[in-house]
Amino acid sequence: MTAIARDALKQLAVLYAGEEDIFPSQQLAKQLGVAFYQTVDKHAPAQFFLSYRDGCLKLLDNELLKKGGLMVEIEPRPGEQRSYPAPKQGALAQALGKSKTVVDATTGWGQDSLFMFRMGFQVLCIERSPIMAVLLQDAFTRLAKSDWVKNLNLEVPKLLQGNAIELLTTLETAPDCIYLDPMFPPKRKKSALAKKSMQILHELIGQDDDKEQLFQAALQATGKRVIVKSPDYAEPLGGKPQQSFQGKLVRYDVYLKN
Ligand SMILES: C[S@@+](CC[C@H](N)C(=O)[O-])C[C@H]1O[C@@H](n2cnc3c(N)ncnc32)[C@H](O)[C@@H]1O
Repeated sequence: MTAIARDALKQLAVLYAGEEDIFPSQQLAKQLGVAFYQTVDKHAPAQFFLSYRDGCLKLLDNELLKKGGLMVEIEPRPGEQRSYPAPKQGALAQALGKSKTVVDATTGWGQDSLFMFRMGFQVLCIERSPIMAVLLQDAFTRLAKSDWVKNLNLEVPKLLQGNAIELLTTLETAPDCIYLDPMFPPKRKKSALAKKSMQILHELIGQDDDKEQLFQAALQATGKRVIVKSPDYAEPLGGKPQQSFQGKLVRYDVYLKN
């Protein structure tokens, strides 16, 4: 585990919301090696909480304790077609080209992975934060139980927890595409526009300072291409890409393997 991941765990506790069986919450605290709370008072050392609420696992900070927490959303994005597979449209689909198998090496809140899954790509997920990994696992379990996934007999994405720089060297089969969306420093010091989910990720995890190394590992491990999603103000991570597709405020740079 990295020093950053260890620091994040020091600020975390599992909070039992009293809604369901207490056992899964106790088990989760034990699995992550963090404190277990049944109430939070203002002297509590933890600043972030994982809590089973409304049938899913949620991440909360002191502000969200009153408003409700953040979970990995498994529903299609607003405006996305609800048929399966969803049409391969937009900048990400263009960047993926004819790929069939994709490894998302920076899964985070899983929104890009789940979008690719709904478009019919076969997706393997990697996430190094143990906190994000338990939130993702909870989401994939919910997804596997959803009617449309069961009716279509689909296999939901698998998740590997760990550093992709190491895990990518252990893949048995090279995927068509390795997808990277590491954290870049925000343009402004405190971006008022950043979504709460991304703010909390920045607070918990910090920046991904080893993204150049991750890019090199991805280029080695991929069968055909690496896609890097970047904010439109950021320099391309791997030098000049062969292709680049512009999305809303982001860019998908494509590096083809020789
Ligand atoms: C900007 S977020 C990704 C957001 C994601 N694309 C989404 O749609 O929600 C970056 C994530 O990548 C993870 N990450 C960064 N470098 C990694 C690495 N070397 N191995 C595994 N995960 C990594 C971070 O922990 C963080 O959760």
